Amino acid sequence: MSEKNIESLLKEKRVFPPSAAFSSQAHIKGLDAYEEISRKALEDPEGYWAGIASELHWFEPWKTVLEWELPFSKWFVGGKTNISFNCLDRHLGTPRKNKIAILWEGEPGEVRALSYQMLHHEVCKFANVLKSFGLQKGDRATIYMGMVPELPVAMLACARMGVMHNVVFGGFSAEALRDRVNDSQSRMLITADGGYRRGTTIALKKSVDDALAGAPSVEKVIVYKRTGDPINMVAGRDVWWHEAMAVASADFPAEALDSEHPLFMLYTSGTTGKPKGVVHTTGGYMTGTYLTTKWVFDLKEEDTYWCTADIGWVTGHSYIVYGPLLNGATSVMYEGAPNFPEPDRFWSIIEKYRINIFYTAPTAIRTFVKWGDQWPAKHDLSSLRLLGTVGEPINPEAWMWYRKNIGGDRCPIVDTWWQTETGSILISPVPGAVPTKPGSATRPLPGIVADVVDRQGNPVGPNQGGFLVLRRPWPSMLRTIYGDPERYHRQYWSEIPGMYFTGDGARRDEDGYFWIMGRIDDVINVSGHRIGTMEVESALVSHPTVAESAVVGRPDDLKGQGIVAFVTLSAGNQALPALKEELKIHVGKSIGSFAKPDEIRFTDSLPKTRSGKIMRRLLRDLASGAKTVGDTTTLEDFSVLAKLREEEE
Ligand code: PRX
Repeated sequence: MSEKNIESLLKEKRVFPPSAAFSSQAHIKGLDAYEEISRKALEDPEGYWAGIASELHWFEPWKTVLEWELPFSKWFVGGKTNISFNCLDRHLGTPRKNKIAILWEGEPGEVRALSYQMLHHEVCKFANVLKSFGLQKGDRATIYMGMVPELPVAMLACARMGVMHNVVFGGFSAEALRDRVNDSQSRMLITADGGYRRGTTIALKKSVDDALAGAPSVEKVIVYKRTGDPINMVAGRDVWWHEAMAVASADFPAEALDSEHPLFMLYTSGTTGKPKGVVHTTGGYMTGTYLTTKWVFDLKEEDTYWCTADIGWVTGHSYIVYGPLLNGATSVMYEGAPNFPEPDRFWSIIEKYRINIFYTAPTAIRTFVKWGDQWPAKHDLSSLRLLGTVGEPINPEAWMWYRKNIGGDRCPIVDTWWQTETGSILISPVPGAVPTKPGSATRPLPGIVADVVDRQGNPVGPNQGGFLVLRRPWPSMLRTIYGDPERYHRQYWSEIPGMYFTGDGARRDEDGYFWIMGRIDDVINVSGHRIGTMEVESALVSHPTVAESAVVGRPDDLKGQGIVAFVTLSAGNQALPALKEELKIHVGKSIGSFAKPDEIRFTDSLPKTRSGKIMRRLLRDLASGAKTVGDTTTLEDFSVLAKLREEEE
């Protein structure tokens, strides 16, 4: 993080307290109420969390709220519950039975509205389909679909029977899908023929066929027909969704699962080349997503709520599917691109359904700024009462634009900090209580003990940069990395002794507000997508012409960060412009298009320390066009740096 950036944040003095009108109707009505809850949660965390968990349905009560033996936590031990039951069945004896649970719009324009009763019916049938193919509690199923209601149906069916789901974002390539299927050892793959995106179709099933050539654990593939594009159905392995559903019973009582029964895994990038399967379990994840959806979005019975994320990422898991359904909300789901057919698709959706709560990413907001004020101005956005952002730091100017042009200077903005690993939002304003400052996620939610510390774990002073850590376990925390508890321990609980290390840098201001400064490990955040530099490097060196590569992020006005790859070629290969394109395509094929480098720079050698470590800091400086680069005293060969600079000119 450059000093310039820290300085500009320090200049941010604007504060926006919630309006009296908002506070008076909110779940938490003002700062005093909030401080009181926070104080109680600090004094008696177990009592606090137990109180929240008990708002949900348990088949059997827990005996112990928390068993904590660093780094492993168990929550609501001895309790039996089911998140699918809590998302669906719990509402059926209430007026929510006929309330819309999922309001879906396809990119071509179709609309589907599934009530809680209808969703329950589909989920039970699909659970029976899974069962009929031999899937059992404890198995894993990979889901690789676009944004269609059948995706949450599949997730909730898995959860209903205790099968772990492993949703893989539809933008991942066949190779990335194969790795995730293999690591999870899934017996079942649930997919669609294709999906719609920006007026064209994406051939999901083709990627599945390619992936499964190297993934022997998969016995069955269930294919939902979305586009009708011709696909290859493998006899004995592939089954059409609609054919299987046509004969399935709608009677499937939810399994009473242990609170710690694994609910899902979701692969995310870390500091090594291999993505890690973050494991979440049932009772704690349910408690965290339920509570945060209610408080952070100040969700009410009559709200129409829309989170624009893709369910392939954790935001979609927690804040399109589980959190909203646990609260009996109407969750809007949109299939396609924000600029199809025109750059006002989001605003037309808000106007059409009178959406009240809107949750999106800073990268999207920056794109809207670029597209121009005229697009939201064409629409009546007066139904909105709350806005949210997630996924990366938001620059104050984008925040102000969002507030004015989308929120009509009326809606509080919740800048929500969290991670795949945390399961639910941990640092965020509670909108009726905590005044907001543009660019700050403000304060940890009640019960969350966050801090900014140095390497040894000592708190740093106000406005000093440091590592963002969590000092206490929380219910929706990840439990392990699938198949690799040792890596889980090392990665999260041993960098800074005794604390959970987030991988983010942050500072806390004189009011105790957190300002997240971005990743300090080898992870790049491109448009809110978390990409490990090592993943891109491994993809590059798997190309026959590449000897070595180093990948770094550089600031990007739209995407937050862009990817720059420094590449040395193996002997006999020429540094031709066409090869740059080929390498970008190669990375797209290995990971997915969203991970393609923005720029490839060929170089004869990479700057290294005497011990042979690539000096990424120098490369980051070079990639971002900094005139002077930082400390070079450990650089092994100064001429490398000079050469890299020359190439730039
Ligand atoms: O660096 C932080 C950034 O996104 C990382 C988590 O990425 P992922 O697991 O993909 O989950 C994204 C959605 C929760 C964090 O370590 N990040 C997330 N939210 C914010 C953020 N950075 C700043 N402000 C945020 N509100």
